[in-house]
Amino acid sequence: MNVVRAAQAKDRERILGICRDVWDGHDYVPRVLDDWLANKEMGTLLVLEADGVVRGLCRVTRFSSTEGWLEGLRVETGYRGRGYARDLTEASLDAARKMGFMSVRCSTYRENVESRHILESFGFATAARFQLFERVLRPAEISEEGLCLGDQVFWVQGSCFFRLARGLLPMGWQFPSWDAVRREVGHRLRVVCLDSGLLVVDTCSPGTTLNVCLWDGRSDAERVNAWLDGFGASAGYSHVLAMVPQGHWLQLVLPDLGWTAWNEPGAPDVFVSRRSLE
Ligand SMILES: CC(C)(COP(=O)(O)OP(=O)(O)OC[C@H]1O[C@@H](n2cnc3c(N)ncnc32)[C@H](O)[C@@H]1OP(=O)(O)O)[C@@H](O)C(=O)NCCC(=O)NCCS
Repeated sequence: MNVVRAAQAKDRERILGICRDVWDGHDYVPRVLDDWLANKEMGTLLVLEADGVVRGLCRVTRFSSTEGWLEGLRVETGYRGRGYARDLTEASLDAARKMGFMSVRCSTYRENVESRHILESFGFATAARFQLFERVLRPAEISEEGLCLGDQVFWVQGSCFFRLARGLLPMGWQFPSWDAVRREVGHRLRVVCLDSGLLVVDTCSPGTTLNVCLWDGRSDAERVNAWLDGFGASAGYSHVLAMVPQGHWLQLVLPDLGWTAWNEPGAPDVFVSRRSLE
């Protein structure tokens, strides 16, 4: 018999076992698991138990009082294709309603056909498309400082990147709305203006990869790129990642600035899906 229930501290080792071979051992869940188990204010971690053994998990994360985020859907290898991810998705939607959210979102990679199929069958629709780029940071001094805060916030909301990202701010594989995170400007989010170059970075990006949340100002793209080297190196990051909204000019420019795309130029590979809970 299958039961989906809230995860407990005793499930920790089982969850780590399930995640061990996900994405060739590069799953992020083991890094955040202790926080997920401890921090019940910011999310609900669910596990699926089949015949008394935990075989899958997923989390509903709180972005704001109305906005939820689904992540960490995992089913143990050898137990897939039995509908466990469906059961977990259904339970996440129930949990999200109980948490008071009006909508939930999640991100999927284009090759994750099972997840995309499940989301579609639960009524999720694509809200925004992005292309993933990354590069190794070059050790450098910070090239220059940024400008004043008020204008920058105004510019963020007027930027082409913001419009194409549908008001979502890429923070690695999470995509909160600007409204949910704007209080973090000047804290977790650093906004930098270099003439027309506009950049938002997540200064608390987990691990060794610095996340670019927004980038605009084509004529100053090289300056922004150089700033990333200086800031990233000084903050101890070795890599930088940018999720570029589909149709943005950066998709054409980043390869010439030393960035690598996972797929062919111009093709979106990360999808943000949304479902209303009203
Ligand atoms: C993605 C994952 C959670 C799916 O778990 P699962 O228990 O096998 O999923 P389910 O059995 O509930 O459902 C799988 C669905 O995908 C469908 N599916 C399988 N292969 C498919 C394919 N090639 N194309 C389209 N749909 C496919 C199945 O038919 C089924 O749908 P159905 O119920 O309508 O028939 C699991 O593969 C996993 O843990 N992967 C690694 C981590 C990961 O990628 N997580 C998702 C991050 S967004």
